[in-house]
Amino acid sequence: MASFKFLKLLAILAVMFAVLAICSPASNLNKKHDVCPPPPIMHVSGPAGRVAIKSIQNVSWWCNECSPADPVIIELIKNCKDVLFKRRGRNANSGSEDFVVDPKWATVGDKFHFRVTDPVIPVSGNSSKFIVFKIQG
Ligand SMILES: *[C@@H]1O[C@H](CO)[C@@H](O)[C@H](O)[C@H]1NC(C)=O
Ligand SMILES: *[C@@H]1O[C@H](CO)[C@@H](O)[C@H](O)[C@H]1NC(C)=O
Repeated sequence: MASFKFLKLLAILAVMFAVLAICSPASNLNKKHDVCPPPPIMHVSGPAGRVAIKSIQNVSWWCNECSPADPVIIELIKNCKDVLFKRRGRNANSGSEDFVVDPKWATVGDKFHFRVTDPVIPVSGNSSKFIVFKIQG
């Protein structure tokens, strides 16, 4: 009789340990998943509105989730589809470049925007659009 009770107790203990063993790693995993890092965002700031041919403009970018060691690809896009040029730059975390609104590619009335990409993560972002309007001076 006494040994039967003892076996029952052992069985209950065994079940409790099994439940603990199964549940605790799972709850640790769930805790890790609760803390999701934010999705990376590439912010791109460039000229906006109307921009004169031959003027000097500036495109800049920053991305908190990108490493300063990552390169960037800077693209100038015409009318949302044609990539006019593609250039490699340094520091996807933050940087800027000057550029001349060159009459070789800047045609009056067309819309342009920049796209900056960190190819390592990868993440990319667009600047606002600008319209080329006249020949300066
Ligand atoms: C960024 O620009 C590219 C090229 O025009 C376009 O394909 C893409 O949809 C744009 N992305 C956003 C978020 O607007
Ligand atoms: C572009 O503009 C940024 C922000 O105004 C400035 O810090 C940076 O020096 C400029 N870049 C160049 C290459 O002139």
